[in-house]
Amino acid sequence: MPREKPTWDPGTYLKFERERTLPCRDLVARIQLAREPKTMADLGCGPGNSTAVLAQRWPDAQLIGVDSSPAMLEKARSSSLKAEWILSDMFVWEPPRPFDLVFSNAALQWLPDHGSQVPRLLGHVADGGALAFQLPSGSGAWADVLRAVTASPRWSGRFSSNAVDLSTHELSFYYGLLSHLSSRVELWETTYVHVLQGPDAVVEWTSGTALRPLLDRLPEEAERASFVADYAASIAEAYPRQPDGMVLFPFLRRFVIAYR
Ligand SMILES: C[S@@+](CC[C@H](N)C(=O)[O-])C[C@H]1O[C@@H](n2cnc3c(N)ncnc32)[C@H](O)[C@@H]1O
Repeated sequence: MPREKPTWDPGTYLKFERERTLPCRDLVARIQLAREPKTMADLGCGPGNSTAVLAQRWPDAQLIGVDSSPAMLEKARSSSLKAEWILSDMFVWEPPRPFDLVFSNAALQWLPDHGSQVPRLLGHVADGGALAFQLPSGSGAWADVLRAVTASPRWSGRFSSNAVDLSTHELSFYYGLLSHLSSRVELWETTYVHVLQGPDAVVEWTSGTALRPLLDRLPEEAERASFVADYAASIAEAYPRQPDGMVLFPFLRRFVIAYR
């Protein structure tokens, strides 16, 4: 089953555009195809920031961006990027032809059932092409805090027991899924230590992503504010300021490239 979609806000998401696009640049730089890709698909393209990185490296390729959020796609369409933008859930996305590169940066964690979905996406890659994706590990102090606050007596009635519900697995899981279907699989993980302007910036960061489905469950503005205040208080404890007032925000991300 496709997952219920959170309400996306491109403005909040793009507050950290540089930091969020960095892993995308690292992934794109590592892709080594035997011939230049002619067609590329960016799944969960969001506001088009990852799509733009693909276009920079391979400006002559035909490019499509797929996303299920009308707000994100509207932002992508307003860019000057030459791409076809498709409103679709990648859970059911069936392209008419295979692509030389099927790419996804920071989006597959919203897609359920990786055991069948990730091999299905590799099936949309042409011979000699690649499936390349990056996704966050879903771990870290911010996730522990979210779990603790949603399970606290004050909030547990409003949230399910699995409030931080991201699809993400160890790299060995993806190797097991893809190695027998690929000529080569490359995998790595990196902890990016972002230097942010105090603990409120950590709250803002997650407000653009993991917090969104939780905020959707609290339609009353006052209740939302009160939940965010509880969350922010625990985040301030979990991310102490450095002597200069900044906080260090470690964020583990996983990368996979499967070549056909
Ligand atoms: C965190 S943003 C990533 C945006 C961009 N790729 C980047 O590198 O910053 C995740 C995007 O995935 C999209 N998304 C989530 N689930 C999706 C699905 N099942 N099908 C299509 N898009 C999806 C969201 O709408 C959102 O725009």
